[in-house]
Amino acid sequence: MVKSTGHKKIKTAVFISGTGSNLNSLIKFSKTKNSPISIDLIISNNSKSKGLKFAKVFRIKKKVYDFKKNSLAEKKILKILKKNEIKLICLAGFMKILSKNFIQSFKEKILNIHPSLLPKYKGLDTHKRVIENKEKYTGCTVHYVSSKLDSGKIIIQKKIKIRGNDTPAKIAKKVLVEEHKLYPKAILKIF
Ligand code: GRF
Repeated sequence: MVKSTGHKKIKTAVFISGTGSNLNSLIKFSKTKNSPISIDLIISNNSKSKGLKFAKVFRIKKKVYDFKKNSLAEKKILKILKKNEIKLICLAGFMKILSKNFIQSFKEKILNIHPSLLPKYKGLDTHKRVIENKEKYTGCTVHYVSSKLDSGKIIIQKKIKIRGNDTPAKIAKKVLVEEHKLYPKAILKIF
C-alpha cells in the first residue's frame, strides 16, 4: 500500500563536493511551510565532503560516487534518482561537470548556483578574476543547467558591491551569504 503523507513536495537531490553551506540552507528552506521542495537525497563525488555531515544531521539519504569513470557514476546516479522519484536536481558546489548525455537523460530540471554575475566569469576562481579586472560589482546567479558550462538560462541574480579593500576571500564570504538566500528564492520563483 502506498502511504500518503498528505503533502506533495517536489523530491529534490542536492549534489555537493565540499562544505555544503548551500545544501544546509536548502535543507532549512525545504522544511519551511512555503517550500515547494523536499530534500530527499544528497549526492557527492567526494567522500570527504564536509557537507555530507548534513545527511546525518537531517536524516537524509546520501550517496558518494567515484567520478574516475564519469559515465559509470552517472549511470548509477540516474538509477538512484529514478528509484527515489527525484524530480529536481540542485547542484550546490558540485565540482564535476555532468555530461550532455546525463543532462538529456534526466528529463526534469537541473539547477546550479554560481558565484558570479553570469554570463560574466564562468568557471573557477571567479572572485580573483573579478578583482583583477577591477570590477565594481559581482554577485551570484542561479541558472538552469545546460550542456554548456555555466551557460543555461538565468533564473535569478543578486548583485553585490565590491569595496576597495576586498580580497577574493572576503568577496567569497559576502557572496556566499547571498547565495544562501538566492537559491531558495530561485526555487520559489520557478515553482
Ligand atoms: C559556492 O560559492 C557555489 O556558488 C560554488 O561553490 C561554492 C559552494 O559552497 N559553486 P558550499 O559548498 O555550498 O558551502
